Amino acid sequence: MSDDGANGETGGDHQLRVSKIRSGTVIDHVRGGQALNVLAILGIDGSEGEELSIGMNVPSDRLARKDIVKVEGRELSQDEVDVLSLIAPESTINIVRDYDVIEKHRVDRPELVEGVLSCPNSGCITTGDEPVTSTFDVLEDGVRCAYCETIVRTGIASLIDT
Ligand code: CTP
Ligand code: ZN
Repeated sequence: MSDDGANGETGGDHQLRVSKIRSGTVIDHVRGGQALNVLAILGIDGSEGEELSIGMNVPSDRLARKDIVKVEGRELSQDEVDVLSLIAPESTINIVRDYDVIEKHRVDRPELVEGVLSCPNSGCITTGDEPVTSTFDVLEDGVRCAYCETIVRTGIASLIDT
């Protein structure tokens, strides 16, 4: 089912087209305005010559406005998808090979994320000298450190351990 339609990302004559990719990942139906956080999560800033296309606040049927991120030559790991689900829970991950979508999945919100976010509490055991893997419980509206119980509701992308 296409929701790009005549006035969307792949729209008609009066619309700018975001090209199809050959092989890689299309992160579609990202909540409007979250595309740059998606890139932050994936650790992509263009400095390594990654081929990217980004659409922001394009019309969509499912969401009022959606963002879309296309990364050529890269398939996402489960860890990356897990964190992605925290800031873009409605997104669809499409794996593209040789121009065809060979896999499509909605992201699942995990119950916890391990080793991907770093606790903002400098006194937390996970940020000390002894290596303790960070663990965050996923709440309805944020994440909670399983060790010091610090809750983070906004700016989760900035906690990503890169
Ligand atoms: N896409 C792409 N390059 C390809 C194939 C697909 O960039 N070689 C993009 C499409 O533009 C679309 C997304 O990947 O944004 C999903 O493609 P597809 O499943 O063909 O589109 P829809 O049926 O509209 O997907 P959905 O039902 O998830 O909205
Ligand atoms: Zn903590």
